[in-house]
Amino acid sequence: MEVERVQEIANFSKETIPEEFIRTTYEQPALTTVQGTVLEVPVIDLSDPDEEKVVRTIVDASSNWGMFQVVNHGIPHETVRKLKEVGKAFFELPPQEKEAYAKSPGSQSIEGYGTKLQREVEGKKAWVDHLFHKIWPPSEINYQFWPKNPPSYRKNNEEYAKHMHGVVDKLFRCLSLGLGLEGNEMKEAMGGDNMVYLLKINYYPQCPQADLALGVPAHTDMSAITILVPNDVQGLQACKDDHWYDVEYIPNALIVHIGDQIEIVSNGKYKSVLHRAKVNKEKTRISWPVFVEPPSDLEVGPHPKLVNEANPPKFKSKKYSQYCFCKLNKTPQ
Ligand code: OGA
Ligand code: NI
Repeated sequence: MEVERVQEIANFSKETIPEEFIRTTYEQPALTTVQGTVLEVPVIDLSDPDEEKVVRTIVDASSNWGMFQVVNHGIPHETVRKLKEVGKAFFELPPQEKEAYAKSPGSQSIEGYGTKLQREVEGKKAWVDHLFHKIWPPSEINYQFWPKNPPSYRKNNEEYAKHMHGVVDKLFRCLSLGLGLEGNEMKEAMGGDNMVYLLKINYYPQCPQADLALGVPAHTDMSAITILVPNDVQGLQACKDDHWYDVEYIPNALIVHIGDQIEIVSNGKYKSVLHRAKVNKEKTRISWPVFVEPPSDLEVGPHPKLVNEANPPKFKSKKYSQYCFCKLNKTPQ
């Protein structure tokens, strides 16, 4: 099947964009963003030796916002720079080279180079192409979806994956302690060392009618947590108290989203954040979220230590794969 990549559409859409990308007035970012206020999502210094303070700020951010940024996180800036360099280089390859990594239409797996095929409920398309592939654990990696060009793609991605563990472990420890659990219990509830790290590269070409389109419509992530690095083009928005705000980028910070699985395990104490992405009129936006997920056959539900007669479970327990199936097919959980 011939799929039109947004990158190709952008090449011949110099002044206007096809109608299927134009959002309704309920979604258009120019009409629905609180102007003049940039959301200052909490910034957490992960190197702070006062662990209690770090736990407190993470609990506060995860309960009230579902999003925060971390600095002094231990991933070398050079590692992040190199991850971005090779991802950008991949998308700048000629179309036929990228198509060699295309997700096959009938495939169950999300991995590969793609453009969202199915339209959304309102029949609108998102202004984005993407590449998905797992980066951890080694037994889950399908290297056929890792670009061979640029040649350092693999090395740079492996280095990023290796450095992520420190941050992920620290975040899970703090989220766990913040609920009164032992430090390791949250990670264990998500599959421990079998947690899967799924990298996505979002490539949002410049868009002549950026005010009318969206890169990613409003959603919460299905993952446990998502750790995102953006290029320097602003565009991520978060919904707080029913209003949309631009999220301020802090140089070298990682942007952490609380996903649905942490909301479920915490029995609703932590909130998965509703967010979306704008596109830019002059510049290409790129972002690299890593979805940290439970293994697909792991059953996830409210942690037994957090529920009792006074606090009944607010969510059903189900396999992560089942959760994803329901969410993607828009059937009730
Ligand atoms: C996503 C997402 C936001 C961004 O891919 O799930 O929310 O800033 N991306 O690209
Ligand atoms: Ni997201």
